Amino acid sequence: MKVLSFINHKGGTAKTTSTLNIGAILAKKGYKTLLIDLDSQANLTEGVGVYNPDATLYDTYKKRVPVPVVSVEHNLDVIPTSLDLAYFETEIINEQYREKVLKKMIGQIIEKYDYVLIDCSPSLNILVINALEITDYVFIPVEAEYYAYRGLERILGILKNVQENSNSKLDLGGIFLTKYNSTRSISAEIKEQIKNQYSTNLMDSMIRISVKATESQIEGKPLIYFSEDSPITKDYIALTEEILNRI
Ligand SMILES: Nc1ncnc2c1ncn2[C@@H]1O[C@H](COP(=O)(O)OP(=O)(O)OP(=O)(O)O)[C@@H](O)[C@H]1O
Ligand SMILES: [Mg+2]
Repeated sequence: MKVLSFINHKGGTAKTTSTLNIGAILAKKGYKTLLIDLDSQANLTEGVGVYNPDATLYDTYKKRVPVPVVSVEHNLDVIPTSLDLAYFETEIINEQYREKVLKKMIGQIIEKYDYVLIDCSPSLNILVINALEITDYVFIPVEAEYYAYRGLERILGILKNVQENSNSKLDLGGIFLTKYNSTRSISAEIKEQIKNQYSTNLMDSMIRISVKATESQIEGKPLIYFSEDSPITKDYIALTEEILNRI
């Protein structure tokens, strides 16, 4: 079992799109895969077609109900969320071992899976730290836009901190570019700059810009089922292969 977390405190860098599409591809390849929605915006939950889930991790924490696991496709499960998760975040702050709450709650459940993918919120809040406690590899999606990679050092700093203090198996899996537009020179410039600074940590695979990303999310279907042959789906398949080679 390996846990991959998709993290970037900048909003809209395709964390959710990447988590759910890579997860769906892994599941289709035959790996037992669990997606965890750790963002109260619930974009991942709705992106896999789950609306108003009966329970969330907040209920597990508060009322000791079993951890909610919903099956969405063959080999693909999700721990869904709703706005409630915002309370979870504020309440666990008072716990003595507040960065290990998630580990305590789902530590056993995740052992049943080949891959567990966690979609984090656009912040570096306590839930992100909880995710890092159980993570093997962090992947950072970066939008091919101006200023997009500013602040990457902050994520890497937190990663190092958790690595040194509590989770020594934690590692950077890679940085990858999303919403890449080959007709705009800025996309190529950003790629060059990140390559110069982060060298092999920048992955070869890139995700091009495509309306299919949003359309499939609105439909509540991963790209591999929504539009199997479109170029963006092929990008995600190539990225998934590269991830498997790196971990
Ligand atoms: N390759 C792409 N091409 C075009 N649009 C995309 C692409 N990837 C994602 N999007 C769209 O960009 C928006 C943001 O994507 P997404 O929700 O995955 O980002 P996020 O990093 O999870 O955002 P947040 O920080 O709010 O959690 C969504 O509307 C999504 O459909
Ligand atoms: Mg998101």
